[in-house]
Amino acid sequence: MAADRVNIVIDGKRCSGLRGQTVLEVARDHGIDIPTLCHHEALTPAGSCRVCVVEVTLGKRTRTMASCVTPIEQGMKVVTDSEKIRSVRRMVVALLLARCRDLDVIKQAAKRVGLKKNPFPEEDGDCFLCGMCVRACSEIVGVGAIGFANRGPDSEVVSPFSVESSVCIGCGTCATICPARTFTLEKVFKRRSMHTTGGKRDIFRCTVCENHYTGA
Ligand code: SF4
Ligand code: FES
Repeated sequence: MAADRVNIVIDGKRCSGLRGQTVLEVARDHGIDIPTLCHHEALTPAGSCRVCVVEVTLGKRTRTMASCVTPIEQGMKVVTDSEKIRSVRRMVVALLLARCRDLDVIKQAAKRVGLKKNPFPEEDGDCFLCGMCVRACSEIVGVGAIGFANRGPDSEVVSPFSVESSVCIGCGTCATICPARTFTLEKVFKRRSMHTTGGKRDIFRCTVCENHYTGA
């Protein structure tokens, strides 16, 4: 229905989307690429990495917003690639490198946003807190066996109280969706085997696709 369509302008190009769609979705539908690190089409957007920032003008007000969580509004004007936006993205990726300097996904993002030198000291963390594993477990599997613990730099993904989960079904969706490719069920559950609702299972990693699976 026409009333459900919203017209916006992205990088000078007239774009149309359905009410409720995000700026990121409409941009991608029109061939405009915006970098993302915590977005997955199968998951509810979380807006946690901020690498997808764009400049959004509505009326007289211009703001820098995460495109993956910003719904389109009639008459919106969006700029995805200004110097200001590139600078914000470089800062975002610099901070991610400060936490996880060795992750390929972050190194690739640094290359993409043109970050050559990190002004921050870097550490060798293996999780950049995108939350995809947590959302996948809750939204796709419908279980919610993992979540975030602690705050700030001490945040980590764990099973509740860091003990064996009594609800995990051992499907490995969390490990498979992790863009860092460092998430392992062993790490989250602090052991190679765990008790699942199907009984005690061992965890294996496929040597071809590198995804996890469980077996007796
Ligand atoms: S373990 Fe992987 S999927 Fe989960 S929050 Fe960390 S980087 Fe993201
Ligand atoms: S992709 Fe939008 S905040 Fe991460």
